[in-house]
Order: sequence, then structure tokens, then C-alpha cells
Amino acid sequence: MSSALEPRIDVLLGPDDLRHALRADVLAGLTRAPKELPPKWFYDEAGSALFEQITRLPEYYPTRREREILTSEVAAIAHLTRAETLIELGSGTSEKTRLLLAALSGVGTLRRFVPLDLNERVLRGSTVAIAGRYPGLEVHGVVGDFERHLGRAPVEGIPLVAFLGSTIGNLKPVARAAFLAKIAAHLGTNGALLLGTDLVKDPARLEAAYDDAAGVTAAFNLNLLSVLNRELGADFDPGAFEHVARWDPGAEWVELALRSRRDQRVRVAGLALEVAFAQGEELRTEVSAKFRREGVEAELEAAGLELLRWWTDARGDFALSLAVPA
Ligand code: SAH
Ligand code: AVI
Repeated sequence: MSSALEPRIDVLLGPDDLRHALRADVLAGLTRAPKELPPKWFYDEAGSALFEQITRLPEYYPTRREREILTSEVAAIAHLTRAETLIELGSGTSEKTRLLLAALSGVGTLRRFVPLDLNERVLRGSTVAIAGRYPGLEVHGVVGDFERHLGRAPVEGIPLVAFLGSTIGNLKPVARAAFLAKIAAHLGTNGALLLGTDLVKDPARLEAAYDDAAGVTAAFNLNLLSVLNRELGADFDPGAFEHVARWDPGAEWVELALRSRRDQRVRVAGLALEVAFAQGEELRTEVSAKFRREGVEAELEAAGLELLRWWTDARGDFALSLAVPA
């Protein structure tokens, strides 16, 4: 009987590095106008668990739609790419990725799986589960920031980079262009990119997906304040802020913010910083861009990639793109 290979984990961002990066982002983000923090700080243990709950909410369709597309297209993806190394960015629990792993193992090309995520605990859990399920597959996790550490993801043979869930939409256009160019450079001449993108649709459905009736997304958003309290000794009162989710038709993104319910001052002891919030003032915590086929194609092309396949779910809510070096 074959036994699972022990997964290897490279920690490129340990707890001290993370705290250092958080300090820099909070100092910059709370002293500028308008105030803004990057969404990567949502994903501590509580935030990652809340995200998992979000993926199962009736209003939050993206995970189900992307799984629907993967279910019907993984065999084609495996045959078209014949990937030997699967790198997954912002992998989380890699739940949908198991469909890809099964299909790539089925065609017999896959040798190695490289999930990359900021959250070490979640990454360790998924690598152990996947190594147990696929004995003989080399599982090599990387704890890192995908914008900084993609170059450290090991590649052997033909690579397939998977960036699922529409996490690309959490980057703004300039950062997105730079990141897609980095991905293209990592693919060499024979690799491929599998990219999940949520599509522009009725604003009411989009806003409901980010402001669910059970209040899970509100808790996810407000949890950011608990991260700042715990990691930086801040004294945010989460009850003094309200969750905002708003469709911006110009930028074509859903914007998440925390709106101050009153005039207040917040101390961030770890940064020796005091920050004033006016009543109604917003701290932007996330953008989640929504896409159209022409836009995705143009962004890929600008990065030196060519759109090989475009698949959507039956309702046209979500798209999966397979792109290759042009
Ligand atoms: N890919 C999964 C999870 C999406 S949630 C899905 O499709 O359901 C976003 C994931 O990306 C979280 O696991 C979070 O920890 C991770 N993440 C967010 N920003 C990141 C960054 N800059 N670098 C690495 N991982 C990041
Ligand atoms: C991870 N990312 C693609 C999610 C999104 O839909 O933008 C994060 C999220 N934020 C609120 N709900 C889900």
C-alpha cells in the first residue's frame, strides 16, 4: 500500500513578517483620506471561517457557479493543459481545486500541487488533507503573499496557475495588471492560467451577495476591527461601525466599507497612533471588481496572455478563463 508523501510547507511570511506588513498597511491606510485597508487582513482564523460560511450563503452565488463550471470543464482543462505542476494562488481550503486535482491525476500528468496562501493554519489543513487523498502527489505549500511571492512557487514541468473565486477582483486595476504580468512571467512558454472572474450583473443581486440577510458578510467585514485590536492593540469598538456594501457602476465593483456611527477617536497603541472618525465617515475595506469578457480578454492580452477558452455557468453569472502565453 502506498503512503502519502509528507507535505512540505515553505513559510515565507511568518507571524512577525505578517505583523510588520500589517503595521505598514494600517499606518498608511488610516492616515490617508479616504481611509482604506487592503482586504488581505480579513483572513485570520475567524475571518477565514466566516469566508467559508459566506461561500454557503444563498445570496453568495460565486462559489457555487464556479464549482458548476469546474465540474463540467475540468476534463477539458486537464486535456488542454496536461499540467505537471498545479499552483493555486489564495488557495484557502482548496475545496473546488479538488475537482482539478482529480481530473489532472486522471490524465496522468500531475506531479506536484503548490497551494499558496497567507493563512498558515488553513494552508496546513488543506495540504495534509490533499496529500492524504493523493498519495504519490508532491504537495508543496507556500505561506506567502501572492503579490510578492509567486516567484518562489516551485515549478517543474508544465505549470498551471489557478487563481479561483474571483480573488483577482480584490485587486484594483493597476495592481491587477502588474500581477497578471507576474503570472505570465511565471508560466514560461508552455504553462497556462486558469482564472475565475465574477461577472457584471443586476446590482441588486450583487449587493445582496455582499450584504446577506444572516449578517455573515457584515461579521466578516467587522472582524477586521478585531484583527486590528488583537494584533496592534487598537481599541476599535465594532459596535460603533456599520457594514456597508455598495455597487459602484463607474468602477464596476462592489465596495465594502465600515461606516462610523458617530464622531469618535480610536487609539492604535502598537503604532502610537490616534485616529479620528467623523460620524458617517467610511473606512474602505475591500473592492470586488466584476468583469465582462472583453475586459478580461484585454487585461490578459496586456499581460502577454491569450484567451484560449471562456466558460460560464448556465446563468452567465461567473466565468472561468483558460489563458496561455501569446
Ligand atoms: N480560492 C478560494 C478562497 C478565496 S478567499 C476560493 O475560491 O474559494 C481568498 C483567499 O486568499 C483566502 O484564503 C486568503 O487567505 C487568501 N489571500 C488573500 N489575499 C492574499 C494575498 N495577498 N496573498 C496570499 N493569499 C491571500
Ligand atoms: C475572496 N473574494 C473573491 C471574495 C469576494 O467575493 O470578493 C471576498 C468576499 N468579501 C465579501 N464576501 C466575500
